[in-house]
Amino acid sequence: MRLTYTSDVWWKNAVVYCLDVETFKDGNDDGVGDFRGLTQQIDYLAGLGVTCLWLMPFFPTPNRDDGYDITDFYSIDPRLGTLGDFVEFMRTAHDRGLRVIADLVVNHTSDQHPWFKEARSAKDSPRRDWYVWSDKPEPDNPEQVVFPDKEDSIWEYDKGSRQYYLHSFYRHQPDLNVANPEVRDEITRILGFWMELGLSGFRVDAVPFLIENVAPELASPHDFLADLRAFMTRRKGESILLGEVNVAYKDLVTYFGEGLGDQITMCFDFIGMQKAWLSMARSDATPLAAALRERPKPPKDCQWAVFLRNHDELTLDKLTDEEREEVFQAFGPEKDMQIFGRGLRRRLPTMLGGDLRRIKMAYSLLFSLPGTPVIFYGEEIGMGENLAEEGRMAVRIPMQWSEDGGFSRAEPVREIPEGSFAPDRVNVADQKRDTDSLLRWFQLLIERYRECPELAWGDYTVLETGHKAVFAHRCDADGATVVVAHNLCDTAQEVELTLEGIDGYQLTDLLADGTAEVSDKGAVRLPLGPHGSRWLRASPPRISPEDASVKSR
Ligand code: NOJ
Repeated sequence: MRLTYTSDVWWKNAVVYCLDVETFKDGNDDGVGDFRGLTQQIDYLAGLGVTCLWLMPFFPTPNRDDGYDITDFYSIDPRLGTLGDFVEFMRTAHDRGLRVIADLVVNHTSDQHPWFKEARSAKDSPRRDWYVWSDKPEPDNPEQVVFPDKEDSIWEYDKGSRQYYLHSFYRHQPDLNVANPEVRDEITRILGFWMELGLSGFRVDAVPFLIENVAPELASPHDFLADLRAFMTRRKGESILLGEVNVAYKDLVTYFGEGLGDQITMCFDFIGMQKAWLSMARSDATPLAAALRERPKPPKDCQWAVFLRNHDELTLDKLTDEEREEVFQAFGPEKDMQIFGRGLRRRLPTMLGGDLRRIKMAYSLLFSLPGTPVIFYGEEIGMGENLAEEGRMAVRIPMQWSEDGGFSRAEPVREIPEGSFAPDRVNVADQKRDTDSLLRWFQLLIERYRECPELAWGDYTVLETGHKAVFAHRCDADGATVVVAHNLCDTAQEVELTLEGIDGYQLTDLLADGTAEVSDKGAVRLPLGPHGSRWLRASPPRISPEDASVKSR
């Protein structure tokens, strides 16, 4: 492969960093993060090595779902700044080589959006058909209720206009009627607007819900996604859609645009994520290995987005009840740590008991998994959660810049956690000075990940290790190979791997000093420390490891 592909198809080995402007950095001392504050931290993000920022919703909002309830798609929440601040931020991000994508939340609006106010004002309102109404909806299927702590139905009766409206999420978030061509046209306009201001794409919220809403009206609902992609490609060839599509693998391939890859550019691997947690809970690589073996290959130029944690609950909805209970017991046994009966409202370091070795192993695993890694702000320094915050807000706490917090000089928008994950223990400034810190580990992982396009671009093979606690795989691209092994348990292990086609090669460690020889029968023995991880570059005799990468071709 030519290295230039990695700039054209930039998303395929990007490192995506998700952040909420509101909780990242306050630039005007009012306690709320904003675009000015974020802009000040651009060099930190560039230095970390991430290549693409994903901004959570930053639009005007009554803030009843942390900004996922929007009242104006063409503007900025005044608490976070102005359009001028946004443009200054974009310019600075681009100057540092960072791309930016943003949440596209068009399954619904806030009930305070002028469109909905107009729609509900009368049955014959010109905007009526922008939402989904029914005189007598089908009886509710409890499985359709996404937030069972607050809702028991997906329909709400509108007394004024005497019909029910659909809301897949909270009742204050009426679903847009995407089957209406006017609505689809408006969605395209929204994409066009933000792309004109420099966005390289969107993280599309709740994709299966969007599709379901068009399904009864359009013969091929997926054409809607293909139309959006085509529009974006016409305007800006490099733009992408990153889809929140939490469905079974077999149903997921259609979201990429089966065969063609002309719909969602990257889908989150929710199944792989859940199986990775199950594997960590059991210290048994089998569930993760099975998921990766089963995972469909995305169409050309599409990609899986891999993650361990995001801004929502750590959903375990695709595990069996017994499996979910195992993960609960291992990583969040108390009721208060659990949410919606299906997930955890904790961040990764607390779930792993603050064990730095194990935390480093988990992220090494993440960055080596075939796909594009997506991290949530604060993961790079090992921030914990604040269970005193309501529901999913527990993980959306202010970024910890320094010993005293450093997020704001005023009372922060959300409470700073206390205890062993408080800013005086976990912060950017300290970790910058500590060569063994998690922050430095992230920098190393990102640097190596970018230097090994084989990981994201290559074909991967899950390897037999003979030890259930060790997960190993290899990635091959155009005759270049990277071999990776992770020990999920807390005792040292030694595994023997069979590596076809590279007998007699040398393996050179990429995360530490070390080498290993592949025998002329293709066997290699790899010792791994407790929760150890090794990334190894294969090089043929007389070729230096630096020259053996696909990059050097
Ligand atoms: C998915 C988002 O990730 C979540 O945070 C939000 O609450 C729902 N969509 C509803 O908008």
